[in-house]
Amino acid sequence: MCGIVGYIGEQDAKEVLLKGLERLEYRGYDSAGIAVRNDEGVTVFKEKGRIADLRGAVDYAVEASTGIGHTRWATHGKPNKVNAHPHQSTAERFTLVHNGVIENYHHIQRDYLADVEMQSDTDTEIIVQLIAKFAGEGMTTKEAFCKSLTLLEGSYAIALLDAEEAETIYVAKNKSPLLVGLGERFNVIASDAMAMLQLTDQFVELMDKEIVIVRKDGVEIETLAGEGMRREPFTAEIDMSDIEKGTYPHYMLKEIDEQPAVVRKIVQAYQDDNDQLTIDPAILDALNSADRLHIIAAGTSYHAGLIGKEYLEKMTGIPVEVHISSEFGYNMPLLSEKPLFIFISQSGETADSRQVLVKIKELGHASLTITNVGGSTLSREADHTLLLHAGPEIAVASTKAYTAQLAVLAILAGVAAKARGKDIGFDLVQELGIVANAIQSQVDAKEEMEAIAHQYLATTRNCFFIGRVFDYFVGLEGALKLKEISYIQAEGFAGGELKHGTIALIEEGTPVIALATQEAVNLNIRGNVKEVAARGANPCIISMEGLQEQGDAHVLPKVNEMLSPLVSVIPMQLISYYAALHRDCDVDKPRNLAKSVTVE
Ligand code: F6R
Repeated sequence: MCGIVGYIGEQDAKEVLLKGLERLEYRGYDSAGIAVRNDEGVTVFKEKGRIADLRGAVDYAVEASTGIGHTRWATHGKPNKVNAHPHQSTAERFTLVHNGVIENYHHIQRDYLADVEMQSDTDTEIIVQLIAKFAGEGMTTKEAFCKSLTLLEGSYAIALLDAEEAETIYVAKNKSPLLVGLGERFNVIASDAMAMLQLTDQFVELMDKEIVIVRKDGVEIETLAGEGMRREPFTAEIDMSDIEKGTYPHYMLKEIDEQPAVVRKIVQAYQDDNDQLTIDPAILDALNSADRLHIIAAGTSYHAGLIGKEYLEKMTGIPVEVHISSEFGYNMPLLSEKPLFIFISQSGETADSRQVLVKIKELGHASLTITNVGGSTLSREADHTLLLHAGPEIAVASTKAYTAQLAVLAILAGVAAKARGKDIGFDLVQELGIVANAIQSQVDAKEEMEAIAHQYLATTRNCFFIGRVFDYFVGLEGALKLKEISYIQAEGFAGGELKHGTIALIEEGTPVIALATQEAVNLNIRGNVKEVAARGANPCIISMEGLQEQGDAHVLPKVNEMLSPLVSVIPMQLISYYAALHRDCDVDKPRNLAKSVTVE
C-alpha cells in the first residue's frame, strides 16, 4: 500500500526520491508524487499512474537536496492527480505525505477547519490544513505538528516539510510502518528499508506516537509530550540482489524459481548443530501449554493457515481453528481458557491481522507471528516470532512466502509433536529435501505450464479449481493466484461440494482444474471430474505419481502426501503467471492490489 520516502542531504533529492519510490512500487499504488524544498520554497510534482508517469511530470531544472515522496493506494477519494500526495496547506507553507487512514477526519474538518476550502477528497489533507491552522495561531511547527497528531484517530505515517524551515523533515507514525535511515551528511526516511538501501543499511525504528525531526546532520526522536528518546540503529540485512529482478522479466517468475532454495534454507535455519530441527523452547512451551490454537491470517497467508491447521492438529493433537483476520476481531468466537494465537503474515504489516493482535493482547492471550519480515509490526508486537527466511517478496502475488509458510508450519508442528512425545511417522528433514527437489522439477516445467495455460485459459471468462483434503486448500490458493494476476474469475471448491450448487455454473468449455494428489480421495475427486465433464466442462487434471490416469494434464513427482501442497501449488502459480502474460496483464503489479495491506 502507500509508500513514503524522504531525503535530506547533499544529492539531487528528486532522483533519490524517484528511485526510492520505484523500489516501493511493489507495494501497489495508483498515483505518486514528490515535493522538494529549496531556497525558493517547496515545489510539488504529482501524477496519476506509475512512477514513470511522475518522472514525465517532474521539472528537472528545479534543484533541491531536501524532499519527500509518496505512492498512493486510494482509500478516500479517487486515484487522480488532485488526490495524489503530497498535499499542501492553502497558503502552501506546509507540505505533507501520509500513509494510513484518519478515521475522525470528518470531525476534525467540522470542529477545526470549517472555514478551510479543501482541495482534495482525501482524509490526508485535513492533517496539513490542521498543522497550518495551529501554526497560524502562533505555534511553532513542532508544536503545531504535535498538537495535530494528538487529535488524529486512526493510522498514520507522516512526513512534513515547512517552506519556512530549511533542511528539516518532520516525521511521525502510528500503526503504519516508517523507518529513518542514517548516513554521513544525509538522512532518509522510508516505509521500507528497501527504498533506501542503495544509500544506507542503518535504520532506526520509529515507535507509535513519537515524532522525529530529521536534519542532514542528525535525527531527534521525541514523544508527543516532548520527552527526548535515544534508539540504536539496526542493520537492514537485505541483499541488493534479492531486490533486483536480474535477468527475469518479472519478480513473480524470479520468486517462483527461488522456492526450492527457500525450502532448503528454511530447513537449515531451523536445524541445530546436530542437524535436528529445533524451535525456540519458549515458543514450544507456549504451543504445548495451549488448549487451542487460533491461526489468524488473510489472503494467501490464510490459505497457508488452512494447511497449517492440518499439520498442527494431525502432528500435535492440539485443536486448531483458522480465521480470516478481518472477520475475527469483529466476530470473535467463544475462546477457550488458554488459547495461543498464531498470526501468519508475509509482510507482518497487515492491518486486519494487527487489529486482532491488539484485541487478543488486551484479553491477555499469548501470540506468535510467523512472518517474512523481522522487525515488522506483527513481529514486534507479538510475544514470539518465527521467520520465513524467504527473502524479500516483491511481486504482489505471493508465491515463495506461501511455500515458506507451509515449510515453517510443518517444522513447527513436527518439532512440537516431538516435544509432546508423538511420532509423526516420517523424517521431516528428509521429506522436505525430497519436496525441494520436486519443487525444482516443477519450476523447470515452465513450457508445459505455459501450454496448459494457453490450452485452458487463453480466452475463458472463468475457471474453477477443485480438490479434496489438502488439494482443496491448494485449489483455493490456485484460484486466488489466477484471479489476482489474470483477472479471470476463478473460484476454488471442495470437490464434493460442487453438486450442492456450484455445478450450475458449469457450461460448455468451462475450465476445471482438478488436483488429485491424495490417495484416500483419489476416486472421489475423479468422480467429481466426471460429473463436471458430463456437463461440458473442460477438465485439466493435475495428479501425483502413483495416482495418475490416462489423460491427466500433468503428473507431479511423488512426495509425502501431507507435504504435497508445497509442490502442487507450483503449477498453480505458473499457470496463473502464463495466463496473465497471455492476457497482457501487469503480472507484478496487478490492478487495485497492494502488497502490504496496511489499512483495515
Ligand atoms: C495474494 C497475497 C495476499 C496476501 C494478503 C495477506 O497473493 O499476497 O492475499 O497474502 O494480503 O498479506 P500478508 O501475508 O502480508 O499478511
